[in-house]
Amino acid sequence: MGVLRKRYVLSHYLRLRKLWKRWSLKLAEFLDFFYILLRSRLFRFIDFCGVVVKFYPKNYHFAKTDLAIISEYWLDSPFAISRRYLQLKLEPDVYQYGETPLLTIEKIARHANITDRDCVFELGCGTGRCAFWLAHFTGCRVVAIEQIPDFVNFANQLIGKGDALAEKISFIRDDFFTADLSQATAIYCYGSKMDDHQIESLILNLRKTRPGTIVITVSYSLNEIIFASKNRAVSRERFSIIAQFGGEFFWGKPTVFIQKKLS
Ligand SMILES: C[S@@+](CC[C@H](N)C(=O)[O-])C[C@H]1O[C@@H](n2cnc3c(N)ncnc32)[C@H](O)[C@@H]1O
Repeated sequence: MGVLRKRYVLSHYLRLRKLWKRWSLKLAEFLDFFYILLRSRLFRFIDFCGVVVKFYPKNYHFAKTDLAIISEYWLDSPFAISRRYLQLKLEPDVYQYGETPLLTIEKIARHANITDRDCVFELGCGTGRCAFWLAHFTGCRVVAIEQIPDFVNFANQLIGKGDALAEKISFIRDDFFTADLSQATAIYCYGSKMDDHQIESLILNLRKTRPGTIVITVSYSLNEIIFASKNRAVSRERFSIIAQFGGEFFWGKPTVFIQKKLS
């Protein structure tokens, strides 16, 4: 083989190798995405079966409400509704929506010892499935705060249609960074995509709550943000962790922190 031919073959080989490198990365990314999608769909389906078997037979009113929520968002999913809302708000990250599996909210309620004497504020309640579960299965009062009007309107329609616990649940369209939280005995905030600055704003708003209020967060504890904060008002706040455990979510197993406000 002549030198020119060898060079020609080598340059072709190198070009093909470069192409393969680029495409194999894209293929790996696609397979990763596909795997996560499949895993989350599968997990969602398994969770739904668990919910049907475990909760529906125990509470007819809950089953009716839950099925109404699932069918409402069957075609236009809450993920898509949230994405459109955030796009209109020109948010840089429009993929912020996520849901707590009901089997996980049951575990959270058990660890936080939520009873019918509690008033639970759910900050960012999404479609309201967890709020309805909490009211039906623990008997607590629930104030569910959400920014997306479609979610709040539909959840309120469900209460209007003769929900057995109508007087125990309210869905309010508000911003949880500024809303009045003073009536809460427990607060649940699944905002695992919030950045440190947003968590600091949340901590400042938690000053409106009474000492002893339970605050439940996913993926981060309030103290780790407080200790790292340069904001003096934030660094004065104190919480003690009373329980923590790995919660099953559709995307993984983050730590759920159950904290008590100290002062
Ligand atoms: C991750 S989803 C959690 C949904 C539900 N709590 C659950 O666990 O299944 C967070 C929700 O909080 C809402 N949200 C985010 N920031 C908010 C704010 N400042 N005020 C009210 N709602 C907010 C979003 O619209 C979204 O529906």
